[in-house]
Parts: sequence; structure tokens; C-alpha cells
Amino acid sequence: MSNYASLDIPANEPERQFYFIDKCREIISEKENTLGRKLTCGIFTFGCQMNFHDSEKIIAILDQIGFEHTESENADFVLYNTCTVRENANERVYGRLGQLKPKKKKNPHMLIALCGCMMQEEHVVQKIRKSYKYVDIVFGTHNIYKFAELLYTRLTSDDQIIDIWEEAKEIVEDLPVERKYSFKAGVNIMYGCNNFCSYCIVPYVRGRERSRKPEDIIKEIEAFAKDGVKEIMLLGQNVNSYGKNLSPNVTFSELLRMVEEIQGIERIRFMTSHPKDLSDELIETMKNSKKICRHIHLPLQSGSTEILARMNRRYTKEDYLKLADKIKTAMPDIAITTDIIVGFPGETDEDLEETLDVVRKVGFDSAFTFQYSKRSGTPAATMDNQVTDEDMTRRFNKLLAVVQEVAAERTGRWEGGIYPVLVEEVNTHDSSMVTGRLSNNTVVHFPGDESLIGQIVNVKLNECKGFYYIGEEII
Ligand code: SAH
Ligand code: SF4
Ligand code: F3S
Repeated sequence: MSNYASLDIPANEPERQFYFIDKCREIISEKENTLGRKLTCGIFTFGCQMNFHDSEKIIAILDQIGFEHTESENADFVLYNTCTVRENANERVYGRLGQLKPKKKKNPHMLIALCGCMMQEEHVVQKIRKSYKYVDIVFGTHNIYKFAELLYTRLTSDDQIIDIWEEAKEIVEDLPVERKYSFKAGVNIMYGCNNFCSYCIVPYVRGRERSRKPEDIIKEIEAFAKDGVKEIMLLGQNVNSYGKNLSPNVTFSELLRMVEEIQGIERIRFMTSHPKDLSDELIETMKNSKKICRHIHLPLQSGSTEILARMNRRYTKEDYLKLADKIKTAMPDIAITTDIIVGFPGETDEDLEETLDVVRKVGFDSAFTFQYSKRSGTPAATMDNQVTDEDMTRRFNKLLAVVQEVAAERTGRWEGGIYPVLVEEVNTHDSSMVTGRLSNNTVVHFPGDESLIGQIVNVKLNECKGFYYIGEEII
């Protein structure tokens, strides 16, 4: 870190990072002159919305430094933003990393970076250090804001740069964010998780729960609204516990009511809700809101009270059913979606029947279904009675069939009606059609062109095709 001797480096954030963005820009533009072309960057993201949002922050920094974005791994700068929630996500990263080695041999300017949740695991970093020496920069989930500084350090030295923090130090505000869509944006309202569900690695790799101040969140959304954003997605691992560590305390419902006041924002979404913390106040706030979308993602994980207890979810099957009923009674048009894990240690066929019972009783509009994946360091990894692969696959297939049947029936209930659709893109298979979403998140395709992108238009839902609709615009 010999380059840090200069006295002009600002000590405070975000000014410090703006300084390094400028410094990197100088180096990259010199390289551009030598090569006679722009340098390219390819950013590949695995995992959840948090990771995708983190990638938007990194892309914005690369953009300011002067990189051109590409979808290809034949780029001058390649970054994998990793996820470690299940083992198969890890395997994919190692596989793709292996394929980069020959590319780097051919292109000596190439830089390879790794970040995200996998990097917060000691054994992963050891493996990178030992077997993937051609990786240039490794950082974690707590120091993303320092990306420009890390890149500068690598550009001015020949060392592999590894910077992983065990805990978050500060929440740095006002760094740039690059939006994929002009009309919708994700906004972090909190980081980390305190729940320690016994199967889950997220609290270990994302740290303790930290809420952003409401004024910072509102300021960011107001700026988005001025820039033409209509839909906001508030992001957190458990949004219902937002504000608990702030003084003065702010509830998630209070925050939603503040966001509702912002002119120009027409749709508000949020993810994810933990059933144990979902308050009556939130249901009331949603019900009375004109902007909060009629969709709630409410992970069930299992329908068996016994399994739920061992998962440390802190609700029973009955609690979940009661909560879902309360939500549906308050808002009959709401879509409830969920996450379910099969094959948690000790799960029996009877436990699966309990899960299927909840799927049928609640009538989920869709569900992400996962096979349990053992994460070392979590309490479930050392529990007795790990389920065999055979039982896991059999149960998974059974669950999937029921989920699909229930979801198709639920999705179809709006057929023939006319509803507002926010148009997101030209249809990827048929360019005479556009694709958008209902308030309840269901996808709708209908004839139209790119001039409709970002607009909310009324669409008649002519035909339900299982998980989506074909419709026509009603003017
Ligand atoms: N904070 C969110 C979930 C984040 S992880 C929540 O609690 O709702 C997304 C989903 O991955 C979880 O809901 C869970 O269904 C699944 N998941 C987490 N750990 C897993 C594991 N070890 N094996 C399989 N699925 C897992
Ligand atoms: Fe993982 Fe549970 Fe936290 Fe969700 S609430 S991130 S499942 S520990
Ligand atoms: Fe994966 Fe990290 Fe999200 S482990 S699911 S990317 S918080």
C-alpha cells in the first residue's frame, strides 16, 4: 500500500472513494490510449436481490472509471459477485473461474475480481489464495463501497489484493448507483440479518442487522423519482424488523408511509418479510395504501411445526395459516408467494404432507422450492438424520407438482379483467409484444412497442397461460 503516502487522499467517505475513482480513471484512460480502444467490464451476479443491487453499485463505479459494459466474459475486467446460500451456487463460481484462466493468458490486461457472500467464508478465501492465484482482487460484502480504492491498489501493484472484513464498519451513503431500468430501482433499507435460521448462512456472511436512516432512504428515493423512477423495491433480509436498531425507533410501516408521500413514485414493493415479525400495522398500512403493490413474499420454509422449531423460524404451522388468512381478509386481491425447503434434517414424509397442506390452504401464487443444502458452520449442518438424496428428490418433485397446480389456479383468477400493467421491456421472444407486471407481480405479455416501456397502461387479461397472461391494451 505504498501508494497511500500522498497527503491529498481524503480521509472521509464517500469523498475518499471519489478520489480513487478519479485516480483509476486516469490509469484506465492511459491504457485506452495504448490499446486504441475502450476497456470493457463484465459483471456476473449470483444470488438474491441484495447481490444484484450491490452489483449496480459496482457497475456505477466502473462506469465512472471509464469501462464499457459487456455481457461477455471476454472482457478486460471480469467480476463474479457470488452467493453461498446453497452449495451448487459455489460450484458454479469455481467452474466459471477455471474457464477464465486461458482467457487471462491471452489478454494480459485482464483483471479478475471476486466479491459477495462466498468471500466472507474463510475456507473459500484460502482456496482462492492457494489454487486461484490469477484472481486479482477479492473483497467481501462489508466493503463494497471501497471498490474503487481496491481497484486502484491493484492497478498500481502486482499483488493479489484480498480485503475481507468480518463485520460492517459504517454505512456509506451517497455513492453512485447504476440502474438497469430507467423506471424501477432497488433501495437497501437495511443490511444483514439477526435471525439465525438454523440452515442459513446469510447472518454469517452479511453480518448483524443494520438499518439505514429513514432520511437517507427518502433522499435516495426522491432523487430516483426526479429521475423518472416509478417503482421502488425496498430491500432487506427481514424488512419487518426495519428500524429496530435506530434511535429514535422507526417501524417499517412508518417508513412505507413516508415513501408513499413521494411524488412520482407510483408503485412500492418490498422483500423479504419474515412471518414472525409481520405486524398488524403493516397489514393496515398496505390495505390503506394506493401505491404499495398487492404482493407479499412470505417465506414459509416448512409447514411442519416440528421442523419449523428446529429451523428456528419462531412460528408454527397454525401461526402461518392465521397470518396468511389475516392478510387475505384485509386484501382479497393480494398475491402471496413463498420459499420452501425440502429435506431439512429429520424431515419425514409426514412433515412434507404438512407443507403440502399449507401450500393448498394458503394458495400461493408462486413458490421458490429448494432442496436443503448443508452449509458448514450452521447448526443444521451437524444435526442428526440428514435426509438422503433419494428422499430429497422424491419429496421435491412431489412438492413442485402441488405448487404448480395451486399457482396456476391462483394466477388464473384474474382472466378477463382489466388491470394496470407497468411495462418493463420488449418481449424477448416476439418483438411485436411487450412484457410488464401487474401490481401483484404477475407477468403479462401484450402487443406493443418500446415506446410503452416505463409506462403504466390498462391491459385486458385475455388468457392465462399458467404463470403469465396474454392480454391487450385498452385505451
Ligand atoms: N431472508 C430471506 C431469505 C434469504 S435466502 C427470508 O428469510 O425470507 C433465500 C431462500 O433460500 C430462503 O428463504 C430459503 O428458502 C433458501 N435457503 C436458505 N438457506 C438454505 C439452505 N441451506 N438450503 C436450501 N435452501 C436454503
Ligand atoms: Fe436466512 Fe433466516 Fe435471515 Fe432469511 S431470516 S436470511 S432465512 S437467517
Ligand atoms: Fe446468496 Fe448472499 Fe443473497 S448468500 S441469497 S447472495 S445474501
